[in-house]
Amino acid sequence: MSAFAQRLLAWFDQHGRHDLPWQHPREAYRVWLAEIMLQQTQVATVIPYFTRFIARFPDIHALAAAPLDDVLALWSGLGYYARARNLHRCARQIVAQYGGTFPRTLEALMELPGIGRSTAGAILAQAFGQRTPILDGNVRRVLARYGAVPGWPGTPAVQKRLWQLAEALLPDERMADYTQAIMDLGATVCTARKPACVRCPVAPGCAALAQNAVAEYPHPRSK
Ligand code: ADE
Repeated sequence: MSAFAQRLLAWFDQHGRHDLPWQHPREAYRVWLAEIMLQQTQVATVIPYFTRFIARFPDIHALAAAPLDDVLALWSGLGYYARARNLHRCARQIVAQYGGTFPRTLEALMELPGIGRSTAGAILAQAFGQRTPILDGNVRRVLARYGAVPGWPGTPAVQKRLWQLAEALLPDERMADYTQAIMDLGATVCTARKPACVRCPVAPGCAALAQNAVAEYPHPRSK
């Protein structure tokens, strides 16, 4: 297993978040709902919405059977309402197409409304323990720094390199913890401004830190 994964998992045991509501139980419906809410919204804001949502729609059948207006009402305040519309469409599609059971492949998940590659990876890793990487904004920053990956991550070539690095660093066990850990690292240590490299568990292997150039990664879009 990569030194990155080993160090990150050891850090997660000590410093990671273990009490998030979607971690207990870590089932596909809850992980999916949390990931959609977390796409553009921070954890602290999401938690009360998540809890209310689960209380009102405890499973995918309840969500699929609800009128869209009820879903939008519960979403009210979270913003980016396209997420709520896609969520509802996605629930109906999973019930119609899969009898309410989430598919367990990247390809099938990515065909569903509102689920891109990173969200699909997050569901497979966290709910099913599959060895699938994620690459959201926080993780992009962690990996661009760790590998000193040059270029603006908005380009397909840089994206491709980051996905390859994400894949290469995966652990061979504890995928759910690892996935939560890398997101936590990006959110709390490897932050966009003032990263806390002194507290970083993967600093010993960080290529940007070795170049004393952490603040320069990821590179901004060139003008
Ligand atoms: N952002 C996206 N998914 C997340 C998660 N599971 N925990 C914290 N932040 C996230």
